[in-house]
Amino acid sequence: MKIQGNKNGPYVIMTEGKYVLRIRGEEKTVDQQVVALCRCGTSRNKPFCDGSHKEAGFQADEFELEIS
Ligand code: FES
Repeated sequence: MKIQGNKNGPYVIMTEGKYVLRIRGEEKTVDQQVVALCRCGTSRNKPFCDGSHKEAGFQADEFELEIS
């Protein structure tokens, strides 16, 4: 699994299969290899990024984590 923090944007999770997100007691099975999660706090579709970080002028450095 790889987690990337995009410059001035979301956390991007890259996996090779299905996984389960547990958010505030709710489980959601994700069957996508790439998912973008909000880290600016302004998304209207949390926990997912909806592009609102651009309007908000969110700023953050990029990074990359690889978990094996
Ligand atoms: S990071 Fe994209 S809406 Fe928050």
